[in-house]
This record gives sequence, C-alpha cells and structure tokens, in this order.
Amino acid sequence: MDDTIRRACVIGWPIEHSRSPMIHGHWLEEHGIAGEYGKRAVRPEALEDFLLNLPRHGLVGCNVTVPHKEAAFEIIHRANPEGVTALARALGAVNTVWLDERGRVCADNTDVHGFMANFMERAPDWTAPGRHVVIIGAGGAARAVVAGFAREGVARVTIANRTLEKAERMAEELAGIGEAALAAAPLSDLPALLPQADVLVNTTSLGMTGQPPLEVDLSPLPEHAVVADIVYTPLKTALLAQAEQRGLATVDGLGMLLHQAVPGFEKWFGLRPEVTHELRALVEADILKERAGRDGE
Ligand code: ATR
Repeated sequence: MDDTIRRACVIGWPIEHSRSPMIHGHWLEEHGIAGEYGKRAVRPEALEDFLLNLPRHGLVGCNVTVPHKEAAFEIIHRANPEGVTALARALGAVNTVWLDERGRVCADNTDVHGFMANFMERAPDWTAPGRHVVIIGAGGAARAVVAGFAREGVARVTIANRTLEKAERMAEELAGIGEAALAAAPLSDLPALLPQADVLVNTTSLGMTGQPPLEVDLSPLPEHAVVADIVYTPLKTALLAQAEQRGLATVDGLGMLLHQAVPGFEKWFGLRPEVTHELRALVEADILKERAGRDGE
C-alpha cells in the first residue's frame, strides 16, 4: 500500500447507505489532497480490534455511525481516557476517531457541532439567551441536539418523548452540560408545549421516507419560532413544509450531516474544509436520485 496516501473511512453495520464518502471525496478532490475516504462494514464483535488497530487497517482515522457510536466511546475511553473530548464523555458516544502525534487513538462527537453549525447558518438572526427549545425524541441524535443548545446558552430545553422515562433519564444525565434547565415531558404534551417554544426540533426518524409521519399541528407555535428537522430524506419533510406554510423559519437536516464531517476531515487531512453550496447540491442530487430510483421500483 502507498504510505504517502492518508486513508480514512466510515464504519457501521450495515454501511451501504452512508453519504460520508461522497462528502469527504468531494473535499479531497477540491483541495487536491492525496487521500482516500471509503466505507467499511464492521461487525460489533470486530469493533474493538478495528478501533485499537487503525494503522494495521491502513487508516489514520474513521467516522463511526450506527450502531457503533456508544460502543466506540466505551472502547476508546478505556484505551485512552484523555483522548476522548469532554463533550464526547458527556454524551457517551463518538462519531469521529483519529490518532494523535504519538499514535494514540482519540475521539470526539462532532454531531453537536454539525447540528449547531447548520442551525446557526440557516437561522443567522437567532440568539440563544432566554430561549426555550422543545426537542422531540430522546435517542442518540436528541442527546447531541440537547447538548448543542445547552452549551449555546439557551434558558430551557424540554425533551418530549413517547417513552417519558427515557426523556427523564436524558435530562438528568445532561444536566451539567450547560446552564440551561432541562425538563422531560411525554410526547402527548407537545400541543401544550408549543405556545412557549422558541425552537422545535424533530430528532426522531418519524417523517423519514418509509417511516410513519410525525403528527403535529404547528399552529400553536409563536410567529418567531424556528422549526428544525434532522431527517433529510425527504429534504423537505412534512414538518418543515407545514412550518413553511405558516411562514416560520426552518432548518433542514442535510446541513447537520455536512457540517459534522468538517472536524474529522481537518484531523485526518490537515485542512479545514467548507460546506459550500456546491457540496450541498451534490448530496441533494444524490438524495433525489435515490428517491427517483425508489419511486420507479
Ligand atoms: P437515534 O439514536 O438515531 O436518535 P433511537 O435511539 O432509536 O435513534 O431513538 C429514536 C427516537 O425516536 C426515540 O426517542 C423514540 O421514542 P421512544 O424512546 O419512545 O422509543 C422515537 N420514536 C421512534 N418511533 C416513534 C414513534 N412511532 N412514535 C413516537 N416516537 C418514536
């Protein structure tokens, strides 16, 4: 293997549908970097060996996706506790892995950066102080979004989830991450929460192509509210379409995917890339192509 080429990849189980190779491939080409970014299916039982022996696999680092983010955190935190960022420790999940100058494995969670960078780009006039954010869902994606807003300095975050206990546990676990007051509510409370919500974010897979719809009437939201969805297939979910119809500001999910990739690329290839219109158009076209393929089946 040519040692002058730096190689990274995304790992998951399964991994076929990842768009990370398209994103990093675009940046490698744009900047003329002698690097490669692929994807590898790694079974859960092979994860530890893989992460702790990246050079043997010809890699300088990797992204980690479903279902490995929590297990990867445990493995790397055990092997090199100081190499895991405080944010990743607070979340108990990592998605970006690299080697430090002494070859020790390190990890971070860039989903938080990805969500917030995209949110601020799409809602540039929005400010955090005094705001109440309502989050739908209490899974891994919700953790990153709650952490992002809490660190940004909002006043209050309410996690509304079908299973109340999960939302309660998350509110307790993330309580120290910022100054924000974290609260939990059953999803059935959503209509009552909306009149006091400055931001509403869907972090569940509801509304994704092939999944059940997210049934919510947005009319109680105040006029200044921002509505965000982390689902990006379709690009404009029914939630975002409804918000748009009401004239509310919206933030779609694709930008989170693009922005979360930035810190990893910088670690592996030594240059901080930009999320450009061109990159977004490239990934959008791929999403539309996949959709057209499915509709034609
Ligand atoms: P991820 O890590 O990608 O966020 P996850 O951990 O599976 O995914 O979380 C999925 C979230 O979507 C959960 O909050 C889940 O609610 P429960 O905690 O009650 O399971 C929510 N969710 C999934 N399907 C749902 C449905 N049909 N109605 C309401 N919430 C749903």
